[in-house]
Amino acid sequence: MIEFQHVFKSYGHGRNILSDISFRVSAGEFVLVSGPSGAGKSTLLKMIGGLEPCTRGTIQVNGQRLDQIPARARPYLRRAVGVILQDTHLLYDRSAIANVLLPLAVTGLAPDQAQARARAALDKVGLSAHENANPIELSGGEQQRLAIARAIVNRPAILIADEPTANLDQATARRIMSVFRDFNRVGVTTLIASHDEPLLADYASRTFRIEPGRFSDLGEHHARSGSPKPSGHAGDLPTGRSA
Ligand SMILES: Nc1ncnc2c1ncn2[C@@H]1O[C@H](COP(=O)(O)OP(=O)(O)OP(=O)(O)O)[C@@H](O)[C@H]1O
Ligand SMILES: [Mg+2]
Repeated sequence: MIEFQHVFKSYGHGRNILSDISFRVSAGEFVLVSGPSGAGKSTLLKMIGGLEPCTRGTIQVNGQRLDQIPARARPYLRRAVGVILQDTHLLYDRSAIANVLLPLAVTGLAPDQAQARARAALDKVGLSAHENANPIELSGGEQQRLAIARAIVNRPAILIADEPTANLDQATARRIMSVFRDFNRVGVTTLIASHDEPLLADYASRTFRIEPGRFSDLGEHHARSGSPKPSGHAGDLPTGRSA
């Protein structure tokens, strides 16, 4: 599903942030990307999402080498990978549902179909009652869930999230994590970068650790909340969840 082979990454002419990284993540895995600030966690996730190129090596996502994807096929990759960045990049000049509709604008869906999809995505993250709210009126946890709704509206096979629980209290952070767990349970491959290892240990079943200049795959472990590995995509999630 995701395969790195001898990947190096530097920005401009700077030093290598990541050096000679190789790993493989199978469909349905739930991976925690841990490590200190500045080590390269966000960089790794951005490369998987096709938002940053690697400097050397090859990256395959969904059976496609990212450096060989023709420009016209890029939107398909964008749809296969739902991305939630460290800064959620919500737009505060429009409603919650308008934010979720954005990724659908390029899909050619009829407006009423797009609305239905966006509503379903909001429902999955428990924000149905807030569809007309401006994101600025939402709490931090609700804004995170809105960013998740926007990331899953295209029913991606892979979901990557960068520090989705930063600045949230424990109860809210757990509510956010249970949203990811639900997607993972229906088969969505999930990678989350986080400093909160104790929290993530309850959900993730494999841990990558990035330290300055070193990448370690700490291997698989049992997520305390469990995350079995069926196949499917985000569109399969049962609706009506408020967690
Ligand atoms: N666009 C960029 N241009 C130049 N350098 C960058 C860029 N993005 C990140 N870096 C540098 O790459 C290194 C890794 O950054 P990255 O954001 O991946 O770390 P991180 O592990 O996500 O840190 P944090 O835990 O603080 O989010 C840092 O030294 C950072 O300054
Ligand atoms: Mg980061």
